[in-house]
Order: sequence, then structure tokens, then C-alpha cells
Amino acid sequence: MPGIVLVGAQWGDEGKGKATDLLGRDVDYVVKFNGGNNAGHTVVIGGQTYALHLLPSGILTPGVVPVIANGVVVDLEVLFQELSAIEARGVDTSRLVISANAHVIPSYNRTMDKVTERFLGKRQIGTTGRGIGPTYADKMTRVGIRIQDLFDHSILLQKVEGALMQKNHLLVKVYNRRAIAVEEVVEELEAYAERLRPMVVDTAALLNQALDDGATVLFEGGQATMLDVDHGTYPFVTSSNATAGGACTGSGVGPTRIDRVVAVIKAYATRVGSGPFTTELFDLDGERLREIGHEYGVTTGRPRRCGWYDAVVARYAARINGVTDFVLTKLDVLTGWDKVPVCVAYEVDGVRFDELPVSQSDIHHAKPVYEYLDGWDEDITGARSFGALPLNAQRYVQAVEEMSGARISVVGVGPGRDAIVQRHSLVG
Ligand code: GDP
Ligand code: IMO
Ligand code: MG
Repeated sequence: MPGIVLVGAQWGDEGKGKATDLLGRDVDYVVKFNGGNNAGHTVVIGGQTYALHLLPSGILTPGVVPVIANGVVVDLEVLFQELSAIEARGVDTSRLVISANAHVIPSYNRTMDKVTERFLGKRQIGTTGRGIGPTYADKMTRVGIRIQDLFDHSILLQKVEGALMQKNHLLVKVYNRRAIAVEEVVEELEAYAERLRPMVVDTAALLNQALDDGATVLFEGGQATMLDVDHGTYPFVTSSNATAGGACTGSGVGPTRIDRVVAVIKAYATRVGSGPFTTELFDLDGERLREIGHEYGVTTGRPRRCGWYDAVVARYAARINGVTDFVLTKLDVLTGWDKVPVCVAYEVDGVRFDELPVSQSDIHHAKPVYEYLDGWDEDITGARSFGALPLNAQRYVQAVEEMSGARISVVGVGPGRDAIVQRHSLVG
């Protein structure tokens, strides 16, 4: 089973880090193919909690080769901070490799991210402020800086000059900020070059060779389907392709090499930042989900917006990603409700939509149509087989599986590495 893609099915924070860690035992490579340190993955191993942003979650699994591929945007300061922090906790990071074609996030793009958000006022996206959008914009307008540029002083100088020519006009004339000096940026980036050099390889060649040799490669998506720049709730999205197709363009591996697409989905739903969220709760149920589920951002600490499971979104994710398996996480958080609502369709101005409406304004105006499933009171955190779950919890899983367009192969029943119920193997 060589190529496995793992993506988020909702708005992020579904528990992808834990799922990657779970799969990590059976894989040889874990590849981050999109996004940057806007991601926040929490992995709990033996009672120890690790919060990762830029590094692939596979870095925590001994023997796995973690890969930062070409589709990622890399904040070098964060990269080395994160490496030092986990090395200090005894994690071996020496196998990490980084694509020469990945783009870097210069500090001016963090500034651009923050000033443009402020400028948008009420229409702001609620970004993580990490410079993700401006860096992908630079990539597309061909004024980005790539990892390989750091090893050639005159090229780097030219490229930074080119980028700042436009940005300084914007910063000074539109945003009323000071201009940024070219030398300052070149110095900032070159400071990392020597430490970076041994990690930089042709990751596309490496991964294709690994697949030729029969290795198992896991492509770990950051963010999620509904935050994908093409398929999400645009413009309230991130700036990369977080869906399964992004694994190919973001790593240089062709679609014929992908055998399995695993989507991680929470047993309820959350969202951080602005944008439509049909099942969002503004009442005590929402607060209860947030408190029991510890729904506060790993990256920004913001409280996550919470709501019920949305099968319309699940079916959409199944379709857009070609999902073969779902990992349903955080079922334990639903313990204690008498009835658990699940959104089966949307209603827009009296018209029922069984699938996600194509019009963005319909999505904004949609009301959820709920089906009410029976709840359970028993503590399920100790369950390790499907049969050990209370009958109503089993029925919940079966019901959402039927509505969601792919089988549910793993169910999460707690934050710990082993707190899962496995129904089907994800690698076999
Ligand atoms: P990611 O961004 O998709 O990797 O997810 P995050 O790490 O941002 O958020 C998921 C949170 O849920 C983390 O704190 C995990 O430790 C936790 N988690 C994952 N699976 C489960 C589960 O089955 N039950 C519970 N209670 N927590 C879980
Ligand atoms: P993981 O990988 C949840 C959201 C931000 C904002 C929008 C755009 O942990 O699931 P950006 O900084 O990317 O330009 O922000 O996307 N966002 C996430 N929400 N989980 C994430 O990552 C996210 N990464 C970005 O909150 O609404
Ligand atoms: Mg997260």
C-alpha cells in the first residue's frame, strides 16, 4: 500500500496529527505538502503533549523520514525554533528533508498578512497572521523566494529587491508603514542558510524513488477541505490546496501513485476564523462542546466555533477528495447528550439542498435540517473495539457512515495515541 493521502474533511483541527501518528507506525515517509505554520497539530504520546505547526507529525515516530515538500511555505525562524524545542525533548530530527522548491515566508509577509487583515475590517478572513496568504500570492505572481535562492547571494538579492519594489509602495502609500530594506531581509534569510543546507534535497525525486522501491508514503494535509482555496468556502479559506489533489502538485508525485485517501472528520464540527458554518451553535450546547472538546486553537489560542456534525459537508469532502476511509475523531466528546443532532441537508429560502449548494450566498443563508440520533451516557474512552461501545454510540457511527459517502475505518475515543477503535486497517 504505497501512497496514502490524509486530509481534513471539515475546517481543520479534526485530529489529523493524531491520525498521522497512528499511521506513522506503518509508513516510511510522512510528507507535508501544503500550508505552513498556520497548522497546529496536537499529538499526545505516553501522556506527553506535542504541539507541531510546521513540522510533519511523522517527525515524532522513530524511523519515519519527515519531508517538507515543494507545496509548503516555510517560516525559517519557526522551523528552527520547532526543531530545537522537540530536540530538547529527546526527539531525533536528523532525518528531516526539505524541498529546494518550497517557498520561504520572509518577515515582510507576516507584516503584509496583518496589515491587509486590519484593512479588511469587518470583512477580514481571520487568518492566523503567519504570512501564509501573501507568500502564496507571491508564488503565483512569481515574486516568491524559494529555499534554493538562499544559497546564491546575488540571486537572493535580486529576488528580494523585486519583491520589495511593489511591497514597499503598498506598505508606505497604502498602509502607512515604513519601507523595508532589501539588505535587512537578505541578512535575515541568509542567517539560516548554512543550517538549512544539509536538509535540502530534491524531494520529488526522493519520493518517487521511495515509491518505486515499495516504500509506504503518507501525504499529510494541513488545514482541510472546506479551507481549500479552490473547493472551500472562498474567500474564507486558506491560500493552498488542502484537498487530496494538492498532495500531487504539492510533492511532485503523480496521481497514479496514490492508493488510498483517508479523511479525518470530527464527530461534531468546529471552525476558527470567519466564514459560513451552517451547524454553528450559539447556545449552551456549543459552549459544552468547546469545553469538553478543548476547542481552543493550537496556533492562535482562539476559541473555536462549534456545531453539530454536518453530513452535507462530509459527502462533499468524500467526493472532492475521493475518500476511501474516514477517521471519525472525538466521539467521546458527544457522551452525555440525550439526543445528538446531525445535519442531513440544508434549507435555503424554503428549498431543500441534499448536497452543498454551488452558490456561496446560498451557503451563507443555509439552515440545517437535523435528524436526531439517540445519545449515550457511558464513558467510552476505554473502548478499544467497536462492540465495546454502547449500542447508541455504535448506531451513531453507523448512521453517520451511511450519510457520509465512505466507510468509517477508525473511531477516536480520546486524545491519547491508543484511544481508538479500529474497524478496518488504513494501510492493508
Ligand atoms: P489537527 O490540526 O487536525 O491535527 O487537529 P488539532 O491537533 O488542531 O486538534 C485536534 C485535538 O483533538 C487535539 O487536541 C487532539 O489531541 C484531540 N483529539 C484527537 N482525537 C481525539 C479523540 O478521539 N478524542 C478526544 N477527546 N480528543 C482527540
Ligand atoms: P490545521 O492544519 C483550522 C484558517 C484560519 C483562517 C483561514 C485563513 O491545524 O487543521 P491563513 O492563516 O491560513 O491564511 O488563514 O484558515 N486556518 C485554520 N483553521 N486549522 C488549521 O490548520 C488552519 N489553518 C488555517 O483560522 O480562518
Ligand atoms: Mg490544528
